[in-house]
Amino acid sequence: MARVLIIIGSRREGNCAILEKKIRKALKKERISVDSITPGNQKIYLCTGCMDCDENGVCDFKDDMVENVEKVVSSEYLIFLTPTRWNLLSGDLKIFMDRLNPLYASRKLEGKKLIALVVGSKKKEEYSTDGALTSLGSFADSSGMKMVYHKEFNECLEYNDILDQEEEISKTIEEIKKVIKG
Ligand SMILES: Cc1cc2nc3c(=O)[nH]c(=O)nc-3n(C[C@H](O)[C@H](O)[C@H](O)COP(=O)(O)O)c2cc1C
Repeated sequence: MARVLIIIGSRREGNCAILEKKIRKALKKERISVDSITPGNQKIYLCTGCMDCDENGVCDFKDDMVENVEKVVSSEYLIFLTPTRWNLLSGDLKIFMDRLNPLYASRKLEGKKLIALVVGSKKKEEYSTDGALTSLGSFADSSGMKMVYHKEFNECLEYNDILDQEEEISKTIEEIKKVIKG
């Protein structure tokens, strides 16, 4: 049975949170094991770049990343949900990703499947979500994960603008279910 971990890159009860709730509900209905974390609401120290983890695959900091790392290790699918910020992914997610270096060093990310969902306020032709998606793509590539699905939601500025795209949301959820169930 596939295990799915959803990582939410926004702290507010906004578009990413709305999307997460709908995906979680749909996956649970399929009896797929799913867990969610919001790194921005957790205690996570910034990576100092000491590189100790390159030696032993363990971070010296003992904070909420200890449990997060266990969850990542035991999940086959990682769904990253991020708002676009200055054409990049959210800072909360970047901090989380940096702290996954122990798993990169011990090659425990290899073979995992990454699903990238990016939300931005601008129009598609204004490249609102490209930078965040590219960043998640290169994170997957460099760590040996495979990006198996991605979707961009544009023109979402206010908290719940994404609800104007119900049809796209439903399509996305169906596609994610298909990817996970094979
Ligand atoms: C600091 C900051 C920078 C942002 N930069 C961009 C941007 O470069 N491009 C864009 O399309 N939207 C940008 N946005 C808008 C958010 O991506 C948008 O409001 C998104 O829906 C937020 O997701 P959330 O509701 O899940 O927090 C920015 C928002 C903030 C707070």
